[in-house]
Amino acid sequence: LASIRVDVSGVQPGTQLTVQWLGKPVFIRRRTQEEIDEANAVDVSTLPDPQARNANIEEGAPATDANRALAVPGEEGSEEWLVQMGVCTHLGCVPLGNAGDFNGWFCPCHGSHYDTAGRIRRGPAPTNLPVPVAAFADASTIVLG
Ligand code: FES
Repeated sequence: LASIRVDVSGVQPGTQLTVQWLGKPVFIRRRTQEEIDEANAVDVSTLPDPQARNANIEEGAPATDANRALAVPGEEGSEEWLVQMGVCTHLGCVPLGNAGDFNGWFCPCHGSHYDTAGRIRRGPAPTNLPVPVAAFADASTIVLG
């Protein structure tokens, strides 16, 4: 599996970087505290897809915000970063950021709304946006794969 290193030092809170990895877009978002709080306020049992879908943790883990997000080393507990595939789980369109009814991503193809943790909240997409294998190599570099 080809891994790539991504410099995230220029990513401001409330914005995201889209990189291509293995031929697919990957969204790397630095979230605001408000976005994190919004994601944490959700009761996981009410989610259409209650599974985290995170390749870095055990399969079937619950879709809590902490189980989907990524913290800068040494800043665990403040999971500012969210790394996820930018491919709608319905039929593969690329969702738009800072959009939709849940302030996360919106897929314009058939109207799927994802929240600030990339979890499907409304629309035809069956599952949350998958979180690929990703880790911080240092405070400003994320390695995918
Ligand atoms: Fe995204 Fe259909 S491909 S809603």
